[in-house]
Amino acid sequence: MIIKDYVLQEKEKIRNKVSNMGIKPHLVIVQVNDDEASSTYVRGKLKDCEEVGVRADLIRLAVTASQEELLSVIEKLNHDPDVHGFIVQMPLPKQINEDIIKAAVAPSKDVDGFHPLSKMDPCTPKGIIDYLTSEGIDFTGKNAVVIGRSNIVGKPMARLLTAKNCNTTVLHSKTRPEDMAFYLEHADIVVVAIGKKEFLTGEHLKKTAVVVDVGINRFEGKLYGDAKAGLDVALQTPVPGGVGLLTRLTLIKNLLEAYSHGIQN
Ligand code: GUN
Repeated sequence: MIIKDYVLQEKEKIRNKVSNMGIKPHLVIVQVNDDEASSTYVRGKLKDCEEVGVRADLIRLAVTASQEELLSVIEKLNHDPDVHGFIVQMPLPKQINEDIIKAAVAPSKDVDGFHPLSKMDPCTPKGIIDYLTSEGIDFTGKNAVVIGRSNIVGKPMARLLTAKNCNTTVLHSKTRPEDMAFYLEHADIVVVAIGKKEFLTGEHLKKTAVVVDVGINRFEGKLYGDAKAGLDVALQTPVPGGVGLLTRLTLIKNLLEAYSHGIQN
């Protein structure tokens, strides 16, 4: 099933579940930038929440806000029993240290899954695993190649694929082209998250390969993935209308998980 339809179907299931909940799960998004791309993501997340009947609020801080101001907002949210999960939208302005902010979010409310002790997995990698699973992809013993080693996608993606019994290799911008070719020739699953427009050309890939494209590259008013569109492979996720939708879906799934932890405690 294409991602758009899969996400609609999953959201319908969540909407039914939430409609039976007395106290609605409550998400807060903190945005400290005035970045156009971030604002688009945030609007999408708020819209998703509304569609499934989940409560969502946006707290906006000025782009000049200090790290202390943001930490005090986080501290309040950590202790607010009315808030089940929250995220701080990245990137942050340069006077604020992202690692300090990620570490300040209570692991039980960290629906982004950014904290090392978070109870939830990061949204993009988890969304990808769930979607490929729904497509009947068998992970055990498969050669998975992750291109990109970011903390948000590449590293946790490799961890989750390995947990699914893949033989996982992480490649990156410093990988030599001949090595890139070697690993791609053997790859069954390729997740490309390197942030370079049409980096993956399809050369060296098996026709049976599965390609997951995490790239969002804006160029002359159009969106491009990290892979060329229309590769001759078994499955390729589109850009736009691909992984971004899975990330947003998983944020809501993580919120429901944080909610159920909160109710039990
Ligand atoms: N910026 C880009 N992607 C994300 C995400 O998944 N979560 C947050 N908090 N910020 C982001």
